[in-house]
Amino acid sequence: MRLDPINLFDFEARAKQALPGHIWDFIEAGAFDEITTARNRRALDAVALRPRYLVDVRGLDTSTTVLGHKISLPVMLAPAGGHQSAHPDGELATARAAGKAGTMMFLSTSSNYSMEEVSAAAGGPLVFQLYHRGHDISEMLVHRAEEAGYTAICLTVDTPVPGPKERDIRNRYVRPPETQLGNFYGQKSVLDRMSGTDETTDWNPPYTDPLTWPELEWLRSLTSLPLIIKGIRTGEDARLCVEHGVDGILASNHGGRQMDGTLSAIETLPEIVEAVRGRAEIYMDGGIRRGADVVRALALGAKAVLIGRPLFWGLAVDGERGVHQVLELLRKELERTMGYCGVTSVDGITRGLVSLPGEHGWV
Ligand SMILES: Cc1cc2nc3c(=O)[nH]c(=O)nc-3n(C[C@H](O)[C@H](O)[C@H](O)COP(=O)(O)O)c2cc1C
Repeated sequence: MRLDPINLFDFEARAKQALPGHIWDFIEAGAFDEITTARNRRALDAVALRPRYLVDVRGLDTSTTVLGHKISLPVMLAPAGGHQSAHPDGELATARAAGKAGTMMFLSTSSNYSMEEVSAAAGGPLVFQLYHRGHDISEMLVHRAEEAGYTAICLTVDTPVPGPKERDIRNRYVRPPETQLGNFYGQKSVLDRMSGTDETTDWNPPYTDPLTWPELEWLRSLTSLPLIIKGIRTGEDARLCVEHGVDGILASNHGGRQMDGTLSAIETLPEIVEAVRGRAEIYMDGGIRRGADVVRALALGAKAVLIGRPLFWGLAVDGERGVHQVLELLRKELERTMGYCGVTSVDGITRGLVSLPGEHGWV
């Protein structure tokens, strides 16, 4: 009898066996030489943990809050287009799994099911991720998200031009024809303008109707929902976020899928935390694969982290159950790491629990 996967890397290996090659590549790919994608993992591995002992760690609690919503573990599901590429139940399965695990799911503009269908299936809080591809489209999406009960809008800003994923270009990747972009059922003219999300490989010029800093005001005027900005990589842009009244900042390099040659996401966290000085919540994604990675990110100032590719691995292996298992494996590993670090609550995960290269060690 085959054992269940015991960690996320087992899920990755099984998903690779289960998925057709071009779909596998679409999920795993990074931009150009995939240096940033690899660096996300390398940099996390380089953050050493500093365990603390002789502490009573019974009654460990992994829960926290994000924008006032309680979640049972500080790991959320990142916005990602096209969950049906890994399982026919797509985002419905992912949303159910998130609800079962007691965490939050970010739904992509490029989802296969509509935001209303996902909201009806979900058992927990949802955030709607917005790709701005025109003022009229953004306005329509934000109003629908508010109507459908989403708890926040997350604007992804790191796609000013389409992403260069060369594996997709080689494979002539197109969205599987049996799937749709659920937020735009029957809206052909809108669909034509949605290029340059994670879905398209063509080189197109920059978008014709972009959003810029002063216009965040306009976006905020559309809704009373909190605003998260995703894709921030520098202290400078983090400071601008705060000046524009943003509620949450997602330190992310899109899993290395948009621009190659940047710092890893975890390396950008300290300068973002320093610039924000507690004036907005900070989250981080990119390379989180172990409970210890969650501790690393929280110790460096993140309120919570998100996972992208692993949710597809869970879907490919066993749909809703697979995604739930992925989250539960991370929860168990997180509990174990917290236990070693002598902390019983997420608030107890502080800077002293990690050592950056050169601080204490010399490897
Ligand atoms: C297949 C796939 C599709 C994605 N689609 C989107 C998207 O539609 N919107 C977005 O903001 N980020 C998207 N992302 C990026 C994720 O939100 C996240 O930043 C990244 O996957 C985190 O890195 P990880 O995969 O190493 O966990 C996508 C990622 C993957 C793997």
